[in-house]
Amino acid sequence: MVQGFSRQRKISVGLILALLMFGMIAEVWAGPPMGHGRRHHMRDYRGHHGQGFAGDGFCPQVRATAQAPDDIRNQPNPLEPSRETLYGGESLFQGDVQPVACKICHGANGNGLGIMAQGLNPPPRNFGCQETMQEVSDGQLFWIIRNGSPGTGMPAFKDLDDRKIWQIVHYLRQFSQPGKK
Ligand code: HEC
Repeated sequence: MVQGFSRQRKISVGLILALLMFGMIAEVWAGPPMGHGRRHHMRDYRGHHGQGFAGDGFCPQVRATAQAPDDIRNQPNPLEPSRETLYGGESLFQGDVQPVACKICHGANGNGLGIMAQGLNPPPRNFGCQETMQEVSDGQLFWIIRNGSPGTGMPAFKDLDDRKIWQIVHYLRQFSQPGKK
């Protein structure tokens, strides 16, 4: 009787150990957990639902955009890159601009891979590409936003007043600043 009891205990201890081992092996086999924080973090800065594709985009980018007239091309941005200016630019870029927000083509993180980018040739500018962007002046950006790039998918935004366009230009510059993602 006593013997039988201890044999039963041995079996149940063995069973518990086996379950623990199984759990540990399964845990390792399943790989690192998809942590809540991690997934949200990735989403946060790599784009959100319906905001296009993640990643850094194509860089350097072939650029054959028409050049703005000299006087406009050489015009510096008259606004200070204050928080208000950048916030204004961000709101316009990400949603407020009519009829389509810039992010639809240029991507929420400026990488040129927005949801409407597929099939556009030439592709939307990747504002995160320092190599290409450093050759493009503020005045040039201004001019293309106002007038579009004829023969490409880039529409003209005639309804934006100067101030709003300059706000956007400051915001676009942010994408290619080191450390900004
Ligand atoms: C329907 C798609 C689409 C939308 C919406 C769009 N763009 Fe573009 N954008 C493009 C394409 C395509 C190009 C590439 C044009 C080219 O290569 O000449 C481009 C190019 C540009 C350039 C590059 C100018 C240069 O000289 O290199 C700027 C700046 C720009 N877009 C700003 C904006 C801003 C700001 C908005 C929103 C107010 C916007 N775009 C909305 C498609 C779009």
